[in-house]
Amino acid sequence: MKITVIGTGFVGVVSAAVYASFGHTVVGLDIDEKKVASLIKGKVPFYEPGLEELLLEQQATGNLSFTTSYATAVANADIVIIAVGTPSTPEGKANLSYLYAATKSLSKYLKEGAIVVVKSTVPPGTLSGVDEILAKTATVGYELASVPEFLKEGTAVYDTLNPDRVVIGATKKHVFEILSELHRPLNTTVIKVSPESAQMAKYAANAYLATRITFINQIADLCEHNGSDVQEVITAIGPDKRVGGHYWYPGFGYGGSCFPKDVKELAYYSRTVGEGHNLFNKINELNSERIDRLLLNYAEKIGGWKGKHVAVLGLSFKPNTDDMREAPSTKVIPWLAENKATIVGFDPKAGDAAKTVVADSGLKVVTSIKEAVKDADVIIALIEWDEIVAFDYGATKLDKKQFFIDARNQFNPSIITKWGYEYLGVGRE
Ligand code: UDX
Repeated sequence: MKITVIGTGFVGVVSAAVYASFGHTVVGLDIDEKKVASLIKGKVPFYEPGLEELLLEQQATGNLSFTTSYATAVANADIVIIAVGTPSTPEGKANLSYLYAATKSLSKYLKEGAIVVVKSTVPPGTLSGVDEILAKTATVGYELASVPEFLKEGTAVYDTLNPDRVVIGATKKHVFEILSELHRPLNTTVIKVSPESAQMAKYAANAYLATRITFINQIADLCEHNGSDVQEVITAIGPDKRVGGHYWYPGFGYGGSCFPKDVKELAYYSRTVGEGHNLFNKINELNSERIDRLLLNYAEKIGGWKGKHVAVLGLSFKPNTDDMREAPSTKVIPWLAENKATIVGFDPKAGDAAKTVVADSGLKVVTSIKEAVKDADVIIALIEWDEIVAFDYGATKLDKKQFFIDARNQFNPSIITKWGYEYLGVGRE
C-alpha cells in the first residue's frame, strides 16, 4: 500500500518507519522544514531508542521517505494517516487546530477512495469536523477512520511492533478490511469499533492508567502515616488478578506528553457535556499538586531546603527519552530555586533540553552523576534511568550528613542507609 503519515513527532515517525518495515511505501510529511531535513538525512530529531536504526534501515530499502509537500505526499496515497499533536489549551480543551490545518492541506490532493485515518488523540466526534473540512474541497470520494496509538515513549518502537491490540474505529466493512490488512504483520488482536468508541477508548486507557498511578500515590501517602511500606502493599495486592502488580510505581506523579493532557481533556470534555462533577478533575488536581506537597514534606525531614546543595538526577519525564514535557524536574527545580536551594542536574540525554526549559532557576547541568553529587546535601534520584539506578553512591558518600530521596522507589533502602545516607522514599519509611 502507499501510505502517507502527516506529523513527524513520536507517533508519526515510529508509525511511518514501522509501516515501511511491513513493505509498504511510506511518505512522512511535516510542515517543519528543519525536522524533515533532519529525517531525510536519517537523523531523528529526538531521542527514542532503536528508532534511528529502523529509520535508516527503511530509508535504505527505499520504502520510507520524507517531504514537506502535501502535493507529493498525498496524491498517490491509499491511506493518509494524521498524527499531529493535539495539545491542551489552558482550559484543558484539546487544541484541534493542527489536525484541522493538516486536513485542509491534504484535502485537495486526495486520490479517489483514499482512507483518511486520524491517529492523533481527539475527542469523540472529531471525525465529523474532519469530514466537514474534506467535503468542502475534496473532489473525490474518501473514507474516514480513527486508529488511536498506544505506544509509550522510550519503548515506542517495541510497543508499536508488539501492541496488546490494535483498535480500528470505522463504519464501513472495506475500511475495516484494509486497515486490518495494514496491521496484519503485527499478529495481534484487532478490535473493530465505531470511530467514537475508538477515540473514547484512547482517553479511557490513558485516564485509567493515570488514575491507577494517582491511586497508588495516595496509598503511598497513607503508608507514611503508619509504618507500612507501599512496595510491600503492592506485592501483597498485585497477585489478585483483578488488581495486578504491573504499571504501578508510586512517585512524584505522572508527566509526559499524554497523561496530563488527556486527563485534562477528559475533564474538560466531561464539563462540556454536563458531567462537571467527575473523577478526572480530581485526578488532575491531585497529580498537579503532588510535587509541591512532597517537597514540603521532605523539607520537614531534611531541616528545610534553604541553602541546601541539591543534586537532581534525571531531568526528562521518564527514562530513555529526552522529552521534557511535564517532566517532574520542570516543577521540582523551580520549586527548589524558589526555596533557596542550589541545584545541579544530570540527565543521560535531556541535559541540554533541561537548560532551556528551566533556564531561570540557576540550574547547573553537569555531564556525570559523580560531578552532580560531589557537594550534595540532598540527592534526588528523580527519574529511573538505568545508569542513575546502577550508580555506586557508596563510592561518592561525603563526610557530612546527606539525604537520598528515592523519588521512584528504585533503591534498596538498607543499602543506601548502609552507605551512610538518610534514605527517604515515597510511602516507605
Ligand atoms: C503513555 C501511555 O502509556 C501510552 O499508552 C500512550 O500512548 C501515551 O501515554 P508515555 O507518556 O510515553 O505513554 O509513558 P508512560 O510510561 O506510560 O508514563 C507516563 C507517566 O506516568 C510518566 O510520567 C511515568 O513516570 C508515570 N508513571 C508510569 C508512574 O508514575 N507510575 C507508573 O507506574 C507508571
